Amino acid sequence: MTRTAILFATALVALSGAGSALAADGAKTFQLQCKTCHGAKSTAMGPSLAGVAGRKIAGLTDYKYSAALIAKGGTWTDASLDAYLASPGKFAPGGKMFAAVTNPADRAAVTAYLKTLK
Ligand code: HEC
Repeated sequence: MTRTAILFATALVALSGAGSALAADGAKTFQLQCKTCHGAKSTAMGPSLAGVAGRKIAGLTDYKYSAALIAKGGTWTDASLDAYLASPGKFAPGGKMFAAVTNPADRAAVTAYLKTLK
């Protein structure tokens, strides 16, 4: 991790108003493992994750979700985000996301960071 990357991650968290160290760790993981596909706006690569915590699963109208994720129903809570990130293929078999965060502590951090995205 370069000093610039750390400063960048810290600035992101500061901007979003969350000071927790957990969310700061999650920001770093997000930069490395999620950002390629998840930007501020939905793209063909993936839906926007702004405001994803508490949102309906597969709830955006500007992204074409897989039938598998749409069929899940429910909302994104700490528990469902954790289960999805642990194994997207188990959570929604046949879904379009394959990126997993295998380490539970990293998952908790990324989830904390997702909650800061408005
Ligand atoms: C290679 C691209 C890619 C990467 C990397 C990726 N995702 Fe995804 N993500 C997707 C796609 C595609 C979907 C839509 C899945 C579907 O429709 O089945 C998705 C969906 C999601 C959703 C559900 C969003 C909603 O609106 O219901 C969450 C939450 C999510 N990703 C979190 C993450 C996190 C956190 C990371 C990093 C650890 C990550 N993703 C990494 C492509 C990616």
